[in-house]
Amino acid sequence: MGKNSGKIIIVALLTALACLLVPQYSLAADERIQDELSDPSPTFNPLRKALGNKTYDHAMKSGKYRYTGNAKCRLCHREFFVGRKKDPHIYSYERLVATKHQKNKRCLGCHTTGYNVESGFISFKKTPILIGVQCEGCHGPGSEHVRLHAKDASPFAIPRIGGTKKRKDNKEIKGGFLVGADKPKIIKRMCLSCHTKRWGHSFPRTAHDFQAAYNLYKTPLPGDDDSD
Ligand code: HEC
Ligand code: HEC
Ligand code: HEC
Ligand code: HEC
Repeated sequence: MGKNSGKIIIVALLTALACLLVPQYSLAADERIQDELSDPSPTFNPLRKALGNKTYDHAMKSGKYRYTGNAKCRLCHREFFVGRKKDPHIYSYERLVATKHQKNKRCLGCHTTGYNVESGFISFKKTPILIGVQCEGCHGPGSEHVRLHAKDASPFAIPRIGGTKKRKDNKEIKGGFLVGADKPKIIKRMCLSCHTKRWGHSFPRTAHDFQAAYNLYKTPLPGDDDSD
């Protein structure tokens, strides 16, 4: 390798680095971050907020609900992973890295999957599969759901979407989710427990716009349109 090509590589690397850094400064300047940091209210976990203390405590005490990570979901819901790549929720941990708050308790609850919940996110080192807001970030811990459907676990299985399995012993967990598609009110509360007034820019809090954002998640490929 000649001297010049070495220089070119260094210049290219520096340019790439500069490009990476510039948007980070603007993110860090987001005034909502300062607001959040000076907020004296206790931190919370969104799942508890969506379910309410009573249901949350009852469910967690049972030990049935544990986070499994997206790799499990992919086994049976492959079709969800095509369009989900475009879902910004998956990259929400990167926003904390970019602003150097990836270890900040004040931020992790809304930017990871299950922080503050037993079996949920702890740290990048210990629970790398739970960074960002993954499937279970909205639907809640999936171990019971996976257990109920274990016999469908062929990698080629295409689940029939829309129904729920009825269980006589526990009505509250039809599909095995605390925040399943059969509980639209609770999923909405889940959205709003992260998308608070401070962090609600993505959709103005009018019923109409919220509904539009919410509807994206009713289709397996949000943002992906069959027509393009
Ligand atoms: C665990 C917290 C959490 C939950 C639950 C959650 N979100 Fe989000 N949401 C986020 C975060 C954090 C981002 C920012 C992602 C990014 O840009 O890095 C985001 C981003 C978004 C965006 C994209 C904003 C943009 O600028 O493109 C929309 C739309 C959205 N959420 C809607 C919803 C809806 C609808 C629900 C419920 C079905 C929901 N969210 C549930 C945390 C959450
Ligand atoms: C209550 C939940 C919640 C908490 C706590 C929270 N965030 Fe967020 N954050 C969100 C949501 C939701 C979004 C999506 C943007 C929106 O809807 O305004 C977001 C977006 C962001 C963005 C992207 C902004 C943009 O315009 O693209 C950054 C950066 C960010 N958060 C950093 C932080 C930091 C740093 C902390 C801790 C000091 C933090 N957040 C705490 C929910 C939260
Ligand atoms: C931002 C929150 C959010 C994320 C992240 C999310 N979902 Fe959902 N999901 C929803 C909402 C909202 C619904 C619709 C509930 C309703 O029908 O009212 C839903 C519905 C579903 C359904 C039922 C669809 C139907 O037509 O009945 C399945 C299956 C599903 N999600 C799987 C997944 C998988 C797998 C992932 C991860 C790749 C995922 N979800 C990530 C919010 C989310
Ligand atoms: C072993 C296969 C399998 C795995 C693994 C699996 N699912 Fe499912 N899932 C199914 C089947 C089958 C259905 C359809 C249920 C029905 O119609 O009875 C379903 C339905 C759903 C629904 C809609 C019904 C409801 O209860 O809300 C959601 C949401 C969902 N899955 C999310 C997930 C998530 C998130 C994961 C990862 C934690 C996951 N699934 C892992 C097989 C699986």
